[in-house]
Amino acid sequence: MRKNLSVSPIHTFSKTLTFPGDKSISHRSVMLGAIAKGKTEIRNFLPAEDCVHTLNAFQKMGIEVIFHGKERLTLYGKGLRGLRRSRGPIYLGNSGTSMRLLLGILAGQHFTTTLSGDPSLSQRPMRRVVLPLKKMGAEIRGRHNDNLAPLTIRGRTLKGIRYPLPIPSAQVKSAILLAGLYAEGKTTVIEPFKTRDHTERMLQQFGKSVSLRGVSASLEGGGELQGSRVDVPGDISSAAFFIILASALEGSQLIVRNIGLNPTRIGFIQVLKRMGAWITLVPKKGTEGLKSGEPVGDIEVRGRGLRGTTVTVSEIPTLIDELPILMVAGACAKGETLFQQASELRVKETDRIYSMVTNLRKMGVSIRNEKDNVILQGGKPFHGARVDSFKDHRTAMSLAVAGRLSRKGKTTVQDVACIDTSFPGFINLI
Ligand code: S3P
Repeated sequence: MRKNLSVSPIHTFSKTLTFPGDKSISHRSVMLGAIAKGKTEIRNFLPAEDCVHTLNAFQKMGIEVIFHGKERLTLYGKGLRGLRRSRGPIYLGNSGTSMRLLLGILAGQHFTTTLSGDPSLSQRPMRRVVLPLKKMGAEIRGRHNDNLAPLTIRGRTLKGIRYPLPIPSAQVKSAILLAGLYAEGKTTVIEPFKTRDHTERMLQQFGKSVSLRGVSASLEGGGELQGSRVDVPGDISSAAFFIILASALEGSQLIVRNIGLNPTRIGFIQVLKRMGAWITLVPKKGTEGLKSGEPVGDIEVRGRGLRGTTVTVSEIPTLIDELPILMVAGACAKGETLFQQASELRVKETDRIYSMVTNLRKMGVSIRNEKDNVILQGGKPFHGARVDSFKDHRTAMSLAVAGRLSRKGKTTVQDVACIDTSFPGFINLI
């Protein structure tokens, strides 16, 4: 049965909140822990479906995991070459991060693995990862000229490459760097614009030297990673829904505690500030300020209304997952808000340009797209409606926030089970 979520408008929002662990960092903590030597302890792991798929994948490849509750895990890593062939295909649900990063690790294993996913993941482009991994020496087969899952990958002896990324993607960058651990010689990835750098930070946390110069990251193959302790900070992408809710409602006061403040993830905060939002970042100081190589702190927000802005193509990688909720901010902001060249939204869990434009229109928002640009004329009251998640967690959560920010009527978001892929507590919180 499809689960729906109904919300009514509110007038202010005042709370102090903490958020579950960061999704990107949780995935990486399991991956690096599994291929490191010795014990890795993970705290504040995100027990959402996507990350659990990553965990199950490594358990299927022989990694022992001990659970101390849902958010604290101990993993016994077996070193770079210690994984064993899984019995049968590995199913990764809706999780693009699991599939793309795992391909990087599997490219270096001397066995064959098949990775599969749900209907959405089976339609997402994989050639962007398959191509560079083949260049490094991996053998990969999939549907549509090796672009779509299920993908069967057979590891080989790899050689390092120097690879300028045609599109800014942290998943592709990470897959290549992970394969680079197994390659002979040096692997370098050069990005068109800086994307989230959690892989580079965590590799260093696990004892691997990574050389970073602007938009390029390099490492030498060989050696071993050493097990570590990972304290996963709160997920800023989950907090974004509530930061925007509070920013758009005058008189609101929100405090977010212990949240990840990695500069490659907080582009939406710079945009909101341009829109007139009152937001203060309070980074923690000293040893408290860095959790496993990731900056953390608190955020204070006071609602005082928003005005339109332009989000440029170079900003998009630092706020890629926040674009749907920023469109909701644009609906509330006086004047025009423009998102330039957001084409990467077309290939997320659903086409997020289509999902947001069609749903927000149903709510009476003036929003349109010209190819991959999205244009809003905001600041006019909009109303509740029956809207559809398109089985995409970020579309679902953004629409629920839009319902809270609407002026009248109930909003029913249809098919919200997908929210569990990244933020199981969202429904209670909203
Ligand atoms: C992620 C990278 C981004 C982001 C996704 C998580 C990661 O994807 O949208 O939610 O953990 O590396 P792309 O690399 O496709 O931009």
